[in-house]
Amino acid sequence: MMKRVRLVAGNWKMNGTSRELAEVTAISIAAETARAEAALCVPATLIERAVRASPGFRIGGQDVHSAASGAHTGCISAAMLLDAGAELTIVGHSERREAQGETSAEVKAKAEAALAAGLDVILCVGESDEVRVAGRAVEEVTSQLSASLPAAVSEGRRFSVAYEPIWAIGTGKVPSTADIAEMHSALRRQLASAYGEEAEKIRILYGGSVKPSNASEIFSTPDVDGALVGGASLKASDFLPILEAASDGH
Ligand code: PGA
Repeated sequence: MMKRVRLVAGNWKMNGTSRELAEVTAISIAAETARAEAALCVPATLIERAVRASPGFRIGGQDVHSAASGAHTGCISAAMLLDAGAELTIVGHSERREAQGETSAEVKAKAEAALAAGLDVILCVGESDEVRVAGRAVEEVTSQLSASLPAAVSEGRRFSVAYEPIWAIGTGKVPSTADIAEMHSALRRQLASAYGEEAEKIRILYGGSVKPSNASEIFSTPDVDGALVGGASLKASDFLPILEAASDGH
């Protein structure tokens, strides 16, 4: 089995102004010596300054439009993210699927546009509480993934899937490691059947209430290749222990 370098990406959501750039710098400096990869997906307004505040560190966006340009008020294209210095973007976060009504077809188009433009992509999928309780989580998440996956992934290391159970986001609740392992192994089989050998390089991240206190347990779960971290990515003092936990054994 191929060894994948773990990826720990922060998702700042709608948090962060120039006051918080010191956190970006602190995280970037510590990340230089980590044995896992790190990145921070900050608000679009902060990307350019975050890039300047963290030379050599990877800054990303949180969403991207599927079109190259045009009449899409308030939206941001892949070329614009790249122009600001971003190297990656999240697509299909559940908060956008829910609040902005994004469909899996749109998420797929966004992922394809971002990859084609040269951005790395973290594509999110996850089930609601009701679906988990009804015992349909694997079925639901794998069908969400098949409807969201880009038609082709030519470089697997540039594409990641984040499994984020909606009920675990920002709630302090985390699935059992058995449930995480079951989901990640189903997603890995699905990626292998979609992309063949290149899928070996695709990382599957876990996201939802990852904290310094639970990171080691999550990273030791089979098929977990990293994390997408919301609340605990805002402060270097929370994010860095998670990055450290991801470096262990790697
Ligand atoms: P959380 O968010 O770590 O605050 O639960 C994760 C996410 O939404 O990506």
